[in-house]
Amino acid sequence: MDNDEIICDCNEVYKSTIVKAIKEKGLKTVDEVGEETEAGTVCGQCQDDIQDILDDING
Ligand code: FES
Repeated sequence: MDNDEIICDCNEVYKSTIVKAIKEKGLKTVDEVGEETEAGTVCGQCQDDIQDILDDING
């Protein structure tokens, strides 16, 4: 996997955590990622980045 980075500054959620959750749980939406990892649940600024990761994985 690519170099790890923090995607969600509010909750300090790393890209690796989000990728793992998406793959293991079969997540399809930003809301589902938020429920699993808490990424995107505070200010919402990282939601576009979360969507990009979803698109990368789910096509
Ligand atoms: S940076 Fe993710 S909710 Fe604020």
